[in-house]
Formats: sequence, structure tokens, C-alpha cells
Amino acid sequence: MDLNHTLPQAIWPAELLLGEGPVWEARTGRFFFVDIHGCALHAWTPATDARQSWKMPERIGWLIPRKNGDGYMAGFQSGIVHLTLEPELRWEPVAQPHPGEPSVRLNDAKADAFGRIWAGSMDNDDPARCKGRLARLDPDLQCTVVETGIYIANGPAIAPDARWMLHTDSFLNTVYRYTLDASGNITDKSVWRVFSEDEGTPDGMTLDSEGRVWVAFWGGACIRCFTPDAECLQTIAIPASQVTSISFGGADLQTMLVTTARVGLGDAELAQYPLSGSVFTLRTGATGVLPLAFG
Ligand code: BGC
Ligand code: CA
Repeated sequence: MDLNHTLPQAIWPAELLLGEGPVWEARTGRFFFVDIHGCALHAWTPATDARQSWKMPERIGWLIPRKNGDGYMAGFQSGIVHLTLEPELRWEPVAQPHPGEPSVRLNDAKADAFGRIWAGSMDNDDPARCKGRLARLDPDLQCTVVETGIYIANGPAIAPDARWMLHTDSFLNTVYRYTLDASGNITDKSVWRVFSEDEGTPDGMTLDSEGRVWVAFWGGACIRCFTPDAECLQTIAIPASQVTSISFGGADLQTMLVTTARVGLGDAELAQYPLSGSVFTLRTGATGVLPLAFG
């Protein structure tokens, strides 16, 4: 395959500790993304280059708009909250997939075609502890833990018809595929692809309108594009080693926004990748699918 892409541009050299969770909000024409360890939410409007930042009360992994326009759902360290940004910042706890485990935090999540949220977690203090879970939040706010025994839950990517889902355990360098049904059951867990150390660690994922799977590689300084059957079609270098997540957006859904992380990098790596922690955009030649909302 030969999709022509543009060079990644650092549109916001924000020095994010752990940039993550990019998502396009069509209604307001802005991308949101978070700094998990920086306890901050940011928004960037491509049409005007406007930038907004909100300080969060604790670590935040992701933000998902609500269908009814009444603010957002967000993954805080302690659980899922209903978050209001405008006209003023407010939050209200909604569900706790890991009660009594203060070191476990929500890490990444996506909404599906049924308006549900699939949210994974990890032990923030020691990712080798295998305390992560995958939970499902239904539109009626009922929260169900659907899988335990995960180290670093990452990058769900859900088919537009919600018949299957890819979900990653970054600690195991493995992306899994599940079958989903209308009641929210997950079955037929299988290995989609295991990556080698030198390929980097699979992190955030997104699908394009042709069903291709785009994956960010932590420690890989790149994003890669795969067929639905996990065959690698293309690798695009990003000038930051810890590439965390990606999202298509912009009016034509053809701008890809890429988040990266600065946390844990030594002097040599920062000298090699001074833009680590920046947010980048590029055109990949592919068109994304509109991210879904909760409710
Ligand atoms: C997590 C990080 C983790 C990284 C790579 C991110 O999604 O938030 O804590 O180190 O993935 O596994
Ligand atoms: Ca992630």
C-alpha cells in the first residue's frame, strides 16, 4: 500500500508527561487530549489554532462526549465521572470499576455504537502487578467488569457496528481481538498480533473508514497501519520515542493527531527526541471514522 502522508508537525510542544486520549469533537471542531500524570485536559481547535487547558483534580486518562450534549464522561484515576467543562468545571462520580484499589487507574477507553463505554485500567505505581481490568459502562450507568488479569489495558478500537473489538495489554506487547454482542458480552478472545521488543509497545489505536487499524507505538517512535488481519501496511516515523495514541479529526476527518510522552526519558533520549511530550498532526492519506459518544 502506498498512502502518501505529510511529515508530522509539532502543533503544540506542550512537554506533556504522559500525553494520551486524543479525541475529535465535531460539534465544536476541536481535538481533546489529556496529560495523565500532569492531571490536565487540553483542547486544540485546528481552524483557529485556539488552545484551552483545564487542571483536573486527579489523573485523567480519557474524555468521551455525551450524546445528549450534557458535558462529557471522563476516566479519572479513581473512576468514571460525569464532567462539565463549560461554563465552569464540575465533576460527579458515576462508577468505580476498581473500588478499594487506589493505585489502580483508568487508562484508555472508547464508546461503541450502542452508546456504551469500554474502559481499561492498570496499576499506576507498578504496572507489573496485573491489577488492570476491562469494564463496560452502559447508558443507564450500570458498570460491569468484563475481564480481570490485565496488566496495562490500552487502546480499544471498536468496529463501527460493534461486532468486534481490539484491546491491548501493553505489558504483554499483545493486541487481542474479541467478539462483541448487542448485550455487551465479549467472547472468542484471540491474539490479533504480538509485537517484538524492537517494534515497540502497542498503545492507542484507531480505525479508518476502510477498516484499517492504526496503532501508536510506545518506545517505537512511530505509528503503524495494519489490515484488519494484522498485516502491517505502513510505518510512519514520529519524532518522539514514546508515541501514545492517535485520533483522526478535522472537518474532513483526515487530520491525524498524535500524542506523545516525556515521562521516564533520560538525557540521551531527550537529546535525540527533544519534541517528546509534544502533540503532532499529519495527513496520512486515510479518512477516519467519527468517534462515538456515550449515552
Ligand atoms: C500508559 C502508560 C504506559 C504506556 C505504555 C500508556 O497508555 O498510560 O502508563 O507506560 O501506555 O505501555
Ligand atoms: Ca494509552
